[in-house]
Amino acid sequence: MKLNKLKIGQLETSGNLFLAPMAGVTNLAFRLLCRQHGADITYTEMINSDALLSKNRKSFLKGLSSPYDRPFGVQLVGSSTEKLREAAIFVESEYRPEVIDINMGCPVQCIIGAGCGSALLKFPKLVSEIVSELTYALKTPVTVKIRILERDEKTLEIAQLIENAGALAITVHGREAKQMYSGSSDLVAIRAVKRELSIPVIANGDIKDEESAENTIEFTGCDGLMIGRAAMGNPFIFRRIRYYLETGQKLELDRQARQLEDFKSYITLLEEHNLLSSQNLRMHAHWFTKGLHSSRKIREKINGLKDEKAIFDLVRSSCKEKD
Ligand SMILES: Cc1cc2nc3c(=O)[nH]c(=O)nc-3n(C[C@H](O)[C@H](O)[C@H](O)COP(=O)(O)O)c2cc1C
Repeated sequence: MKLNKLKIGQLETSGNLFLAPMAGVTNLAFRLLCRQHGADITYTEMINSDALLSKNRKSFLKGLSSPYDRPFGVQLVGSSTEKLREAAIFVESEYRPEVIDINMGCPVQCIIGAGCGSALLKFPKLVSEIVSELTYALKTPVTVKIRILERDEKTLEIAQLIENAGALAITVHGREAKQMYSGSSDLVAIRAVKRELSIPVIANGDIKDEESAENTIEFTGCDGLMIGRAAMGNPFIFRRIRYYLETGQKLELDRQARQLEDFKSYITLLEEHNLLSSQNLRMHAHWFTKGLHSSRKIREKINGLKDEKAIFDLVRSSCKEKD
């Protein structure tokens, strides 16, 4: 039994499985689906603080939630303390999330080029200022998500500084920014952070099945696990990992039926929350049909369709054929 509850400030979660923030992926519908399958806390994709403050509609939609999407975190990305603080105050009053996370890990060029994401880690003073200013300005717990640095002592230094500045949890993706997604997540580096800090440390990177989840939590001793890519088109991963960590047994499943059924639920949730036209359904369709023996046929059909409604109808009828 490795599914401990987790405390982030006053917030006590039901367990310690986190859905990672993912741009273009973790919209409200997807978060709700992951939650139904056992995610204990979910994060919005990163929201640019400047775009949010300039009332950009697309950015505004990213933070939307529902009473069933609790507890959830809103992740902000930015480089100016002032703007991050302003955006965080807006987020707190508009979306009322349980947690506000600051992205200090994104390695993508357009983000680091603007001095945001992992670029912040080069400026410890700024990191400290951002975390302490937000902690001071908000009632909501502030958390931070980082990547590791080239030298272990630098990772520890920055993690310690984030804790001292008032963050109430930290997520560590065990890759350096320059690696993007190459190599594998460094569990030794994550473990070192866990040993150094007193706040909850959430391990992230390459958790893709029951064994990797168990290995990560046992090896690092971390307080929680954050799952990203393995949940894309496969929110059922939370149910599988939860079941395994609780019982030591694996869930038997009919993957084909499961994925199509989940895709149908995903589309229904998008429709219920008026998100159907704002999301890239084709990308999700590709992920949800990955690995299925009929996937090529379904993907070809989807590529030929002109709008979300047509994709919706196709998936619904594919699910009926299976029933
Ligand atoms: C499509 C995609 C979008 C992502 N967007 C974000 C983001 O908005 N904020 C963030 O902190 N990390 C983002 N990430 C990184 C993930 O949160 C996570 O740290 C990374 O994928 C490693 O975990 P994994 O091996 O479980 O996928 C993104 C990753 C992917 C694949």
